Amino acid sequence: MKLYKANILYTPSPTQLETLQGGYIAVDDNGLVEGTYASLPDHLKDCQVTDLGDQLLIPAMNDLHLHAPQYCNTGMAMDMRLLEWLETYTFPEENRFADTHYAQRIYSRFVHDLWLNGTMRSAIFASIHPQATTLLADLISNSGMGAMVGLVGMNRNCPEYLQNTTQSVVDDMKQLINHLKDNPRVKPILTPRFVPTCTDDMLDAMAQLAQEYNLPVQSHLSENPSEIEWVKELQPESANYGDAYYRHGLFGHTPTLMAHCVYTDGDEMELMARQGVVAVHCPTSNSNLASGTARVRHLLDGGVKVALGSDISGGNTMWMMAVMQHAMQVSKIVHAHTQGNEHFLSLNEVMWLATKSGGSFFGKVGSFEPGYEFDAIAIDDSQLAACGNYTLAQRLERFIYLGAPTHITHRYCSGKEVDEPTIIA
Ligand code: GUN
Ligand code: FE
Repeated sequence: MKLYKANILYTPSPTQLETLQGGYIAVDDNGLVEGTYASLPDHLKDCQVTDLGDQLLIPAMNDLHLHAPQYCNTGMAMDMRLLEWLETYTFPEENRFADTHYAQRIYSRFVHDLWLNGTMRSAIFASIHPQATTLLADLISNSGMGAMVGLVGMNRNCPEYLQNTTQSVVDDMKQLINHLKDNPRVKPILTPRFVPTCTDDMLDAMAQLAQEYNLPVQSHLSENPSEIEWVKELQPESANYGDAYYRHGLFGHTPTLMAHCVYTDGDEMELMARQGVVAVHCPTSNSNLASGTARVRHLLDGGVKVALGSDISGGNTMWMMAVMQHAMQVSKIVHAHTQGNEHFLSLNEVMWLATKSGGSFFGKVGSFEPGYEFDAIAIDDSQLAACGNYTLAQRLERFIYLGAPTHITHRYCSGKEVDEPTIIA
């Protein structure tokens, strides 16, 4: 057993913030939280204590949607909407990951920066390239962090240089599945890019793999009006975009993440709720690509599970505090545009989305309740806290709005401290 002493904050539910000033958190030898305590409990008197002083200790961030091979485009090239943006900027950059040396250089930086930003678990789109994808999975695994990594399937309506085939996706995914079969924290995830770039045959093959190996699925859904119109033309028999995935066995048949859901409503929303499909809200991306903004309150009220994603590089930052900020800010625009009917998101809610809600995709992750994996970041906010007598809740709020990666002093994943990963030149 290990003990950490700090100012502990976590969100067991969308409306609850637990705070313990100078509290203790006990972590067992399997890396699981044994309990949190306001004072040192008798049965733990002999345990070694890591004293984090006046720092904040919160659950680590979970990023449920981002594209590793778009990392070099982060923070630029956002002058177009989705389909033009993909053709002009995104596909050419992803093509560079055919070169394994390039992939190693960029992916090692990408993994380093996940660490830097306090994101200990993520659901990642790689590219069509199997060697680069395996390399990414290995870099994350070696770092000590956790992830779901997907080799992207795409075999139509995109440049020929960036297409694979149904057969190659099946073969390459089987290799990745085998490569990761005993990996405790890095798992494969079936990743059809989105309906427009995948033939029926490819979607069916992915669903079959998902069933056979009991693997999760990730894709994109209802992000942009032109995309949605296109899906209607391509899949006229489907009642809606989500139904196109559903009819192919890729919509909650196994755990499923659908990024964006900006235009999801009505039957599509009901289907998501019924199938337990997670809507991954990517507010920075939706603003940058002029997609609109997902109605998160409407989705939550409709019983849809929601998590947060940075969507690098539609999103301009990996920093999940910025994603949380933006989620709150755009929800206030939705609030105003619905005459207050759809209430905006609270700080507690976005914190819960980035920690416990997103973390649940990886098991018992994202909270400090007993039995949860100890994934945490320690924060020295003394510079931010210096100008007032703030409560712990206020300190958390100021960190989310004003904090930076340099304020993070320690990162833990599954009970172990994660050291700075090496960047390969
Ligand atoms: N839809 C299909 N591919 C992509 C992508 O790379 N980024 C985003 N934001 N949407 C997509
Ligand atoms: Fe995306």
